[in-house]
Amino acid sequence: MKIVLAVTGASGAILARETLRQLKAAGASVHLVISHGAERTIPLELGPAALDALRGVADVVHAVDDMAAPIASGSYRVDAMAITPCSMRTLAAIAHGFGDNLITRAADVMLKERRRLVIAPREAPLTEAHLNSMLALTRMGAIVAPPVPPFYADLKTIDDVAREIAARTLSWLGLDPGDALTRWQGG
Ligand SMILES: Cc1cc2nc3c(=O)[nH]c(=O)nc-3n(C[C@H](O)[C@H](O)[C@H](O)COP(=O)(O)O)c2cc1C
Repeated sequence: MKIVLAVTGASGAILARETLRQLKAAGASVHLVISHGAERTIPLELGPAALDALRGVADVVHAVDDMAAPIASGSYRVDAMAITPCSMRTLAAIAHGFGDNLITRAADVMLKERRRLVIAPREAPLTEAHLNSMLALTRMGAIVAPPVPPFYADLKTIDDVAREIAARTLSWLGLDPGDALTRWQGG
């Protein structure tokens, strides 16, 4: 499968790194787009080498200002897109159809072409504006999945939490996360 992975400047860069790792482990071809906000948060949260490391794992890397990239068009075939973590700025821009950078444009393409779009908005607490954006996107067909861990899954570390949340993202994208996903077997 061909997947667009967008990373924006919300907290949770570890989710992007783990989602990318699992996407590659699942055999996906990944088009990576990193927002200017994420260029700031990724090194702050994961260290100075993390940006290059992420870009090194992806199959294709697009600049967020490259509006002529293939993923900006519905005629270019991609199967699904994830935005993880998703900032409130990007969330609002997609909810209002701005298409003002490659991430919001590619997301708009996914919605108009009725393809899967999985969004992991990260903010707390949430304002009415944030909630309205999530409602609008849900109504448009996006899967809006805040990165909240399953507390029943006996997760011990932040890496466990990231693995579990990334695995669910893969599942919603239509990929098999394998053992990374803890499946409830009954109580
Ligand atoms: C360390 C740090 C953490 C941030 N965390 C969040 C967050 O969790 N959620 C959010 O919506 N914005 C957060 N921001 C603010 C966004 O980065 C900012 O709104 C940015 O303009 C988003 O742009 P983008 O959507 O193009 O990435 C954070 C900024 C910094 C520097």
